[in-house]
Amino acid sequence: MKTAIVGTGYVGLVTGTCFAEMGANVICVDVDRTKIEKLKNGIIPIYEPGLEELVKKNCNDGRLNFTTDLASCINDVDIVFSAVGTPPDEDGSADLSYVLEVARTIGRTMNKYLLVVTKSTVPVGTAALVRKAIQDELDIRNLDIQFDVASNPEFLKEGNAVNDFMHPDRVVVGVESEKAKALLSRLYKPFLINNFRIIFMDVPSAEMTKYAANAMLATRISFMNNIANLCEKVGADINMVRAGIGSDERIGSKFLYAGCGYGGSCFPKDVRALIKTASENDVDLEILKAVERVNDEQKMILFKKLSAYYSNKLSGKTIAVWGLSFKPETDDMRDAPSLLLVDALVKAGCVVKAYDPIAIPEAKRRLGEDHIIFVDDMYDALIDADCLMLVTEWKQFRLPSWAVIRKLMKTPYILDGRNIYDREEVKALGFDYECIGR
Ligand SMILES: NC(=O)c1ccc[n+]([C@@H]2O[C@H](COP(=O)([O-])OP(=O)(O)OC[C@H]3O[C@@H](n4cnc5c(N)ncnc54)[C@H](O)[C@@H]3O)[C@@H](O)[C@H]2O)c1
Repeated sequence: MKTAIVGTGYVGLVTGTCFAEMGANVICVDVDRTKIEKLKNGIIPIYEPGLEELVKKNCNDGRLNFTTDLASCINDVDIVFSAVGTPPDEDGSADLSYVLEVARTIGRTMNKYLLVVTKSTVPVGTAALVRKAIQDELDIRNLDIQFDVASNPEFLKEGNAVNDFMHPDRVVVGVESEKAKALLSRLYKPFLINNFRIIFMDVPSAEMTKYAANAMLATRISFMNNIANLCEKVGADINMVRAGIGSDERIGSKFLYAGCGYGGSCFPKDVRALIKTASENDVDLEILKAVERVNDEQKMILFKKLSAYYSNKLSGKTIAVWGLSFKPETDDMRDAPSLLLVDALVKAGCVVKAYDPIAIPEAKRRLGEDHIIFVDDMYDALIDADCLMLVTEWKQFRLPSWAVIRKLMKTPYILDGRNIYDREEVKALGFDYECIGR
């Protein structure tokens, strides 16, 4: 089966590579010439564990190819997936310009039946807009060509994307015809060997499923952060509370970690977009508004604790920041809590020394290098530091050498934004230690 994937980012590249790994013939398309040139030369533009080997292997086997020219391959494929970005517009709604541009290009160039599948996260009703954009172009060309549109939202997690795609909990597919259903059943069949579920539904339900899933996960995080802040006031321990409630089957133990806020390319923008869709339909999604508000506040919680510790006198203090990406195992910094935090520290006159195992190039691009000292070794960040802020829980931060840390820091003060350290142990070693919800 021949497939084109348009948009070769985190989702598109993983999708294309995993389909190729299962034997499909895949061409990945992107307008970013530099990205495509790199990929043609075996250089992977993003950090995603396990991806590089798979890309190289499938390129060598000839099943995975790259191009900047969708028109040149559109009539060689049976299915086109659109996995371009849907960033937030100024009013919070999803910007569909890339999705619709892809649809217009398809309409301008297709000469035979095609199944056009949207993999990007898009609001309910987008499939109809995609259909119209393609049909309008076909009408201009005076052509009567059949095509189907479908929705196949993606649920992979950055940092575990290849594994998630190869072994999904479920695949959600919204279709309008039996032909589309048959094509997608065939394409996903190799992934069925491990007994995962493919759930067919109507297109609007598939589009809504993706937003509802992300909104639910974001809600769990904000809920736990809210409860954590109360725990601190009343002398309860959020870790105990998590263990206590997570053992209830109805609640489950995942996504119940308190911390310094959620970020990334999905939760913040998808929560905002869903609130916008709701308001356009006269529905007030009060819960999600609170989820967003709580998260905005939580991103500043470490800064607030630091300010309180130093009685608001932060100017000249040296702060070591461990972890910059929005979560471990990725270089993605979109909406990362570290962005707001570092900005606040710099504005308060702190000297910021930052370390991240992977995301430093991306952090330099986003934060600039004028006011932040980026270091290549996690311990170098601690020299003369007045506080260590743990922002992203990379594995290598879990068992640090406390003796070295104690020796390097000017003030032995630790702010653990992800609750990864043993409070009693760290205190016994002579550190002042604060975390979230304990
Ligand atoms: N990143 C995730 O973890 C994740 C998970 C699930 C769903 N999603 C959704 O998937 C979509 C893509 O996300 P991403 O993180 O992969 O984005 P990304 O920004 O990493 O990649 C998007 C790519 O599309 C390309 N592009 C834009 N316009 C194009 C066009 N007209 N033709 C060809 N290529 C074009 C861009 O150059 C870019 O390389 C979004 O809607 C996102 O919400 C993302």
